[in-house]
Amino acid sequence: MKQSQTYLTTSLKDILPTSSELSIGNIPLSQIEKLVSTTPFYAYDRQLIINRVKQLKNTLPKEISLHYAIKANPYPSLVQLMAEQVSGFDVASKKEMLLAIQTGMPVNKISFAGPGKTIEDIEAAIIAGVTLHVESVGEIAKVELAAKQLKLKANIALRVNPAFELKASGMKMSGGAKPFGIDEEQIAQVLKDLPLKQVNLRGFHIYTGSQNLKAEAIIAAQQQTFALAQQLVELTSKITNIKIDYLNIGGGFGVPYFANEQPLAVSAIADNLQALLQQYKALTDGVELILELGRYLVAEAGIYVCKVVDIKVSRGTKYLVCDGGLHHHLANSGNFGQVIRKNYPLAIGNKLNSKELEQVNIVGPLCTPLDVLADKIMLPKASLGDYVVVFQSGAYGASASPKDFLSQPQLSEILL
Ligand SMILES: Cc1ncc(COP(=O)(O)O)c(C=O)c1O
Repeated sequence: MKQSQTYLTTSLKDILPTSSELSIGNIPLSQIEKLVSTTPFYAYDRQLIINRVKQLKNTLPKEISLHYAIKANPYPSLVQLMAEQVSGFDVASKKEMLLAIQTGMPVNKISFAGPGKTIEDIEAAIIAGVTLHVESVGEIAKVELAAKQLKLKANIALRVNPAFELKASGMKMSGGAKPFGIDEEQIAQVLKDLPLKQVNLRGFHIYTGSQNLKAEAIIAAQQQTFALAQQLVELTSKITNIKIDYLNIGGGFGVPYFANEQPLAVSAIADNLQALLQQYKALTDGVELILELGRYLVAEAGIYVCKVVDIKVSRGTKYLVCDGGLHHHLANSGNFGQVIRKNYPLAIGNKLNSKELEQVNIVGPLCTPLDVLADKIMLPKASLGDYVVVFQSGAYGASASPKDFLSQPQLSEILL
């Protein structure tokens, strides 16, 4: 990749160095299209990811370990890059687990969470030495059985469903009845019943939600998380005499997708974590504190690019019809957790400086009104073959979209 990058950047100056064309990793879109052979594609900017992680690490207290949740973007080259940037991985399937292991990440830094793990998942984690974040009493029984049969000890952490929730979250994953984790009130009994011959209890996982832009909500949840962790650790020591080695305090850091949203005030969260570390010194002594983030690390480093293949006017509304859409980028279409659809930030990628604007609707090639890329958006006047670029697309893009829907051509991904 490095070689072609050098070659491309030098040769490009002679071919298409228009400043109105967007570049990723110094390579203009038209050249990326040649690299990946066709549109649509996702392109991820390596340097932006490195910068984001570095900036976050510089802001957070040094005691906090950063883990990447592979579900946000499992593109193998990106996961490999992440292995060099963060200290651990959260995986949500056996396939993600194998991907994580193959990056060389130490297995004791990989945790496997998610409800509904199969015996096959559990056996694979035990064999690999990956820590299972168990989500139910039934799952503990499965782990016990698998470990017995394999004649191996399973590493586990208890995922706890706390009584509190992460307020103002895009996705709430705790509080009340939830499929995730074991209710905090059940933990004492679970500790009493733990099959300690078969399992090695490493810690607790308290994950409360995702896509949150309100620092005060994350701070409030972290205060509650530390208080709960204190109780859980005391209970554990009383009931099992085990000293845990890590505490996963969740994540939930969001990114702004829409016009009225502001970036998360991470420094306020970092200050609060620093204060919590002081307040809970005895609790955190010798215990690794893990912050588990996905989208915050990668979302803003990725774009989705498709091409205008038809332009039509229907009863006064101008449509740009593209070769990509919902089947590659479900979130942008508004069908992945949004209540009211809003436009992601978009551009005509080869006309960044154009002053001639017009209002258009942008749609994909699928025969469904759900296939929307943008609704009533002001953009430079587009022509056939122009690039429609969707920003903030580095997380929950390709892997979170129904790629086979209507059997459209597949898309490409590239890390530059
Ligand atoms: C257990 C767990 N960890 C991490 C994440 C990653 O969330 P995000 O990408 O919003 O940081 C999720 C998202 O649903 C999750 O369920």
